[in-house]
Amino acid sequence: MITKPRGTEDVLPKDSKLWQYIEKTAREVCDLYGYKEIRTPVFEHTELFQRGVGDTTDVVQKEMYTFEDKGGRSITLKPEGTATLVRSYIENSLYANPQPTKLSYIIPCFRYEKPQSGRLREFHQFGIECFGASSSSTDAEVISLAWMFLKKLGLSGITLNINSIGCPVCKKEYNKKLRAYFEEYKGELCATCLERLEKNPMRIIDCKSEICSRIAKDAPKMVDHLCTECSEHFEETKARLSGMGIDFEVNPDIVRGLDYYTKTVFEFVSDCLGAQSTVCGGGRYSGLVEELGGKPADGIGFAAGIERLILVLKAQKGEEVSFDDGPDVFVATMGDEADKTAQKLIFELRTKGIHAQQDLCGRSLKAQMKYADKLAARYSVVIGDDEIANNKGNLKNMGTGEVKEVSLTAEAICEILDAEVR
Ligand code: HAM
Repeated sequence: MITKPRGTEDVLPKDSKLWQYIEKTAREVCDLYGYKEIRTPVFEHTELFQRGVGDTTDVVQKEMYTFEDKGGRSITLKPEGTATLVRSYIENSLYANPQPTKLSYIIPCFRYEKPQSGRLREFHQFGIECFGASSSSTDAEVISLAWMFLKKLGLSGITLNINSIGCPVCKKEYNKKLRAYFEEYKGELCATCLERLEKNPMRIIDCKSEICSRIAKDAPKMVDHLCTECSEHFEETKARLSGMGIDFEVNPDIVRGLDYYTKTVFEFVSDCLGAQSTVCGGGRYSGLVEELGGKPADGIGFAAGIERLILVLKAQKGEEVSFDDGPDVFVATMGDEADKTAQKLIFELRTKGIHAQQDLCGRSLKAQMKYADKLAARYSVVIGDDEIANNKGNLKNMGTGEVKEVSLTAEAICEILDAEVR
């Protein structure tokens, strides 16, 4: 038997309503904030991520799904959304519209990581990016959108961690201090971090190896070395978040795993996910639009991992949480004539927006009623020869057992359902 590739998942019908619930909540919150959806290709030229995400990152060094297409071009399946959105922002001249440009996306992402709970090779992100605004009010707005999204999903036990990793000016000075610190431990660092020491010492702070992360624990913190502008921006962002009643913790160890960040970075962490606890991460990136060939424009955004959100929802609301509503009414039948009458009635009920079902597998009446129970139908009605002759049936409330006589018309059934179900 051919099985799915390692690190991928089928979303089964029992979970699809949960996915739709998350996507619907994301779209509702984006509407409130004026973020418009953008859809982009699943694959891009490899160079976009090498230049955009950064060639000292784990994502680019170890995790990209890269292949040569039949025309000899190097192609990569999107490992994340930001670089793609920057490319699209520039390529489609979105900067020519009144700024900022507020964009949202729900995308599949691909990273060749070691699969474990909450870490997949194909996963999905809901993300937003805001281009063309450098104010701290933008940072606060973007973070508040993520916060509202997670709140509306009904998640608890989520902590917001924020940090500032400065701008190229203060980062340069800080990197000197960091390099001097890590030089002392040159003999102990892993091979990848030895390379990073020269090119990008901040990446060492993000290394997953036990020894490197132990050494990095006492390294100088960027937040203590910010220039005046970055420091003011960070203080203002924090004050605005507090003003909105959004709780956060400053965590000087957050550097994020991608190279494009400047100033504010943040992560929302769940207390019920174990090692892969970050459900949402993001930050500001001031140089990326220019790096990818556009006129200078600031960007800031985040992405939330949908599979991780589902793990949290299941952990908090029970494995069987499904948001799957059963039919409003199940029409059971006895005989071929009744079956035809039922199909017409169900079609009319559906036309009126009522979720109606009938048996399609030739079950006995008893088995049909069992099936209606399994589907969690709220009402049922049985149609046989007598019901057809009188054009009347008994509509049964499956919860209370209460029965009401009803004409076998969509209007009459709707009248009862409107009063009692909706
Ligand atoms: P990221 O932190 O690499 O950031 O990913 C964002 C979120 O995607 C993570 O917090 C996590 O929930 C989910 N995620 C990442 N890798 C995996 C995986 N292997 N399996 C399952 N879920 C995963 C970015 O991608 C940035 N582009 C976010 C951003 C947008 N920054 C600014 N704008």
